[in-house]
This record gives sequence, C-alpha cells and structure tokens, in this order.
Amino acid sequence: MSTKIAVFASGSGSNFQAIQEAISRGELNATIELVITDKPGAYVVTRAQNYGIPVVELAPKTFADKAAYEAKLVKLLKEREIEWIILAGYMRLVGETLLSAYEHRIINIHPSLLPSFPGKDAIGQAMAHGVKVTGVTVHYVDAGMDTGKIISQGAVDVIDGDRGATEERIHKLEHALYTRTLQQLFNAKK
Ligand code: GRF
Repeated sequence: MSTKIAVFASGSGSNFQAIQEAISRGELNATIELVITDKPGAYVVTRAQNYGIPVVELAPKTFADKAAYEAKLVKLLKEREIEWIILAGYMRLVGETLLSAYEHRIINIHPSLLPSFPGKDAIGQAMAHGVKVTGVTVHYVDAGMDTGKIISQGAVDVIDGDRGATEERIHKLEHALYTRTLQQLFNAKK
C-alpha cells in the first residue's frame, strides 16, 4: 500500500517536485494527496497544479491564532487520511496542535549540517562563516527551530565565493536525499 503524504511548502517547491517525480518513477511508494501552502500564490501552487495535485492555500493571519490555523490543517489532513507530513521549504514553526496530531510523523529538510546553521538562510550563514563543507539534513520536526532528531545527512563542498553554484549542489543533494530517506522511513513503519 502506498503511503499517503501531504507536502507543506512556502516557496518554490523544487523539493515537492523532486518527491513527486520520484513517485512517478516508482522510486518512492507514496502518494502526495495534498499540498498545503501558508503563502497563497507561491510557485509551489503552480507546480502542484501541473501534476493535478490538490492544493490548499491558507494564510495563517486569516485565523484567530496558530492553534486555530493548525486545527484547520489537521481537519484537512485527517479527511484525506494523510499519514505523514513532509515539510519542504515550509517557513513556519510547527505548533502543538499539529505536533500532537502527527507525533513522529512530521519530517523536514534543512540546507545545512545541523546542528550548525539552523533557521533562515542556512546557506548564507555557512558561507559567511567560511566553512569548507556544508550539507543537508533530514530530521523529525519538534517545537524548536530545526532541532528535531536527525535522520540522515549528506555533505557538500562549498565553492568559495560562489553562492549560486554551492546552492545548486545543495539543492541537487536535497532532492536525492529527501526521497531516499522518505522511502526508508515509510518502509520501516509499515
Ligand atoms: C530548501 O533548501 C529546504 O532545505 C529549505 O527550504 C528550501 C526549499 O526549497 N527548508 P524548495 O521550495 O523546495 O525549492
């Protein structure tokens, strides 16, 4: 049986696309039942529509508070029997409501070797520090900022002074590592 997942994204959605393409190639036994974005109009919406995947665009500020916003998300997810939440560039801390509804079932990818450089612009932080090796981390989500238990990591050499090329390497690794890690997780949980 294929695993039912929802992808949460706030931006471009290249990781969403990589996951969907891995599914299409038969490398990941899952179905993206739903894409959720907290940024209506984000490019991930166009990408999801191109694959005919339902998208929900929900601006948190239209809810009374975070708990009300997340309660709505939980309802949408449960209606579709979603088993796992996959964060892919979702630029928001996950709160208690979602965490308790999906305990150990929310995964994130972050463009650094955690615990180094959590939070925003991890690639910029790494380059500003002058590190020679950075990378990608897939981890469980908890209430902190990129603090959950690490599941997998991969390293990337920094190309000195060339953020664009470094970023390209990181994204390429993200796309491969995320789908591989998800497949392992889903197999282990069955
Ligand atoms: C990725 O670098 C991911 O690690 C981070 O946000 C970025 C999202 O990129 N959490 P995209 O929207 O998947 O292209």
